[in-house]
Amino acid sequence: MTTPTLGTPLSPTATRVMLLGAGELGKEVLIALQRLGVETIAVDRYENAPGQQVAHHARTIAMSDPAALRTLIETEKPMVVVPEIEAIATPMLEELEARGVVRVIPTARAARLTMDREGIRRLAAETLKLPTSPYKFCDSLDELQAAIDGGIGYPCIVKPVMSSSGKGQSKIDGPADVKKAWDYAMAGGRVSHGRVIVEGFIDFDYEITQLTVRAVGADGLVETHFCEPIGHIQVSGDYVESWQPHPMASKALQRSREIAKAVTDNLGGQGIFGVELFVKGDEVWFSEVSPRPHDTGMVTMCTQWQNEFELHARAILGLPVNTALKSPGASAVVYGGVEGKGVVFDGVAEALRVPNTDVRLFGKPESFTKRRMGVALAFDADVETARTRAKEAAGKIKPRLP
Ligand SMILES: Nc1ncnc2c1ncn2[C@@H]1O[C@H](COP(=O)(O)OP(=O)(O)OP(=O)(O)O)[C@@H](O)[C@H]1O
Ligand SMILES: [Mg+2]
Repeated sequence: MTTPTLGTPLSPTATRVMLLGAGELGKEVLIALQRLGVETIAVDRYENAPGQQVAHHARTIAMSDPAALRTLIETEKPMVVVPEIEAIATPMLEELEARGVVRVIPTARAARLTMDREGIRRLAAETLKLPTSPYKFCDSLDELQAAIDGGIGYPCIVKPVMSSSGKGQSKIDGPADVKKAWDYAMAGGRVSHGRVIVEGFIDFDYEITQLTVRAVGADGLVETHFCEPIGHIQVSGDYVESWQPHPMASKALQRSREIAKAVTDNLGGQGIFGVELFVKGDEVWFSEVSPRPHDTGMVTMCTQWQNEFELHARAILGLPVNTALKSPGASAVVYGGVEGKGVVFDGVAEALRVPNTDVRLFGKPESFTKRRMGVALAFDADVETARTRAKEAAGKIKPRLP
């Protein structure tokens, strides 16, 4: 890749980038691109999505509809398409990339392999031979029971093949839970077809996100950069708190980075990846990977000189990156708590009075009880203090109906 040149937005020289998905993560990527003078197009399936509010152009389509996606890309003619969510017609992206219509970040193949749990799990475990939980894919309750009895055992975790943020996911502790877990997965998956993965439960000490950046170096070749490990806590499969750096024994850290490198080398392209890993002592298991910024990585907005969104923007554009830590810090999620449109947020000033904190409110038009509406950030001399303060700040913000 040659040294990139950047143009002027809204002029014939514009560098045009399209985000497919414009939630809170896409919004920050768009802001990072805006700061580099990139012309941005934010696409989502609903109007006034967070990222649409900060982009030059907003488009609303069903991104899982291949024809609609093709028409949009052929009409808008972005130079680069950046998937922010999994539920996209990725085979169409592969076709457009193969025809040279557009470049997909990091690659169209990576977007396809990570759009459901099956492609990436088979790549990691079967092709790359990386350690993962024992697993089996099942298409019926009978197959699920047979997989558990045939070796997965109890406890185990059932997840719809197409789902994220813990939707439809549950733990099975014994035979009495199996049908309940199957029914829950059927109700929570993204598409109607009833395929699940059942995974043996890993009794890990802690889990991390290893943010990994593939960016072009001075010699024109892609180099791999690692951020400090991010620790996090998940409740019902959804992230509630994260911090950076997570202290790790050097062997476990080295192993984590070897696994992250193997996966991201295979997926290829340019951009940031969130590699999710389970750690017990020196043992590390690969869980999954997002070929894009990771929700637990929102903490980098207060811990790194270049946060994960800026790193993604730079890597996409072929610019150099710096993954250095600025300060230990933490993030804590602000949930909607109420159901309704146009909520108001009480307690923001009180939250910001907690020392060393900051707040992001995503601007989502509609709140749900368990919808992530904002995040509190805190930096401090140590992670523990930062965690306490981030949680304190998040707890002071109270969304309510108008
Ligand atoms: N095999 C397992 N053993 C133990 N814990 C697990 C296992 N699989 C998942 N978990 C727990 O559930 C969380 C969510 O699982 P996973 O990342 O697979 O789901 P997800 O829906 O893709 O979540 P997200 O989109 O938020 O990353 C994990 O971060 C981990 O805490
Ligand atoms: Mg996950």
